[in-house]
Amino acid sequence: MKTFKIANIEIKNRYIQAPLAGYTNFSMRELARRYGAGLTYTEMTSSTALVYQNQRTFDMIPKATEKGPVAFQLFGGNKDEIIKSIPLAENFGKYDILDFNAGCPVKKVIKQEAGSFWLTKEEELYDLARSMVEVSSKPVTFKIRLGYSSENKNYSRVAKLLEDAGVAAIAVHGRTRSQMYCGETDYNAIKEIKELVSIPVIASGNINFDNFNDIDRIVNADGYMFGRSSIGDPKIFEDLINLENGDTIREYTKEEKMEDIVTHLNLLIDEVGEITACKLMRGFAVMYLKGLKNIRPYKNELVQACTKKEYLEVLNKIKNND
Ligand SMILES: Cc1cc2nc3c(=O)[nH]c(=O)nc-3n(C[C@H](O)[C@H](O)[C@H](O)COP(=O)(O)O)c2cc1C
Repeated sequence: MKTFKIANIEIKNRYIQAPLAGYTNFSMRELARRYGAGLTYTEMTSSTALVYQNQRTFDMIPKATEKGPVAFQLFGGNKDEIIKSIPLAENFGKYDILDFNAGCPVKKVIKQEAGSFWLTKEEELYDLARSMVEVSSKPVTFKIRLGYSSENKNYSRVAKLLEDAGVAAIAVHGRTRSQMYCGETDYNAIKEIKELVSIPVIASGNINFDNFNDIDRIVNADGYMFGRSSIGDPKIFEDLINLENGDTIREYTKEEKMEDIVTHLNLLIDEVGEITACKLMRGFAVMYLKGLKNIRPYKNELVQACTKKEYLEVLNKIKNND
């Protein structure tokens, strides 16, 4: 099994749970880990909200009981707040890697001069990265895009300046900000970055079980992130490990999917309480059920389930239906 290191942290394989806002809370990270993911990320967390002592934001920081390695991802547009939020996060929780989001394309985030807006100000980005490395007791990594737009693809300069600032690894979503989440991912550009820097490079963008080997042949990255392809399919990590080992890929059976939905729901209930958990679970449950036969009527019932009892009733019906 190919492994790699981020600073002194051993990552046991190349298969990484990508950060996904609204999804990668503790429950999703835990399922990814149980199926073997080498590294998981939190969703992006506002440095401003931490500085203003927002309790719900503090709850997004991994707890000491979480088995690592886990990367905690910060975002923000104000350097002073970002720097101030780091000791707050370190005092409150426990994580192995501090990641910074310099890739998010959504308007709400760009308006705060955060996310991929950082790619438009290289000097400030270098200054921020250096200060983060100085203040953080954990290795600092960055997640970037190829540039702000197709006319401004500055990924080579950005990757180099982050390496010079002391950043321990770079994750690259192979699109520009203006592409948002659609259009072609440029794997050759990620390969260029991999050849340019000597710190680990993690590739992201439309990677799934079926195209993994082809993408790996192009990029030869140290690690690969699985985002949308892992929602409702934590078993993808086991499959990738088996693929690399040349072992048989087990079927993700209906029974196992049902069990995983219940495990996921129970973990979510512990994390956020039953009402919120049941709402959050809707997005996951439909994805877990993808590919099962005769499932449509039950999907509608599941997305209306408001309590654990209601979820279990629908899942029972699915179990007994052939
Ligand atoms: C719903 C959603 C939420 C996301 N949230 C984050 C986030 O919080 N932090 C981040 O760095 N990237 C975030 N991303 C980007 C993903 O990590 C990933 O780079 C991108 O989706 C491409 O990979 P994929 O095709 O495997 O999903 C998000 C993407 C989606 C679709």
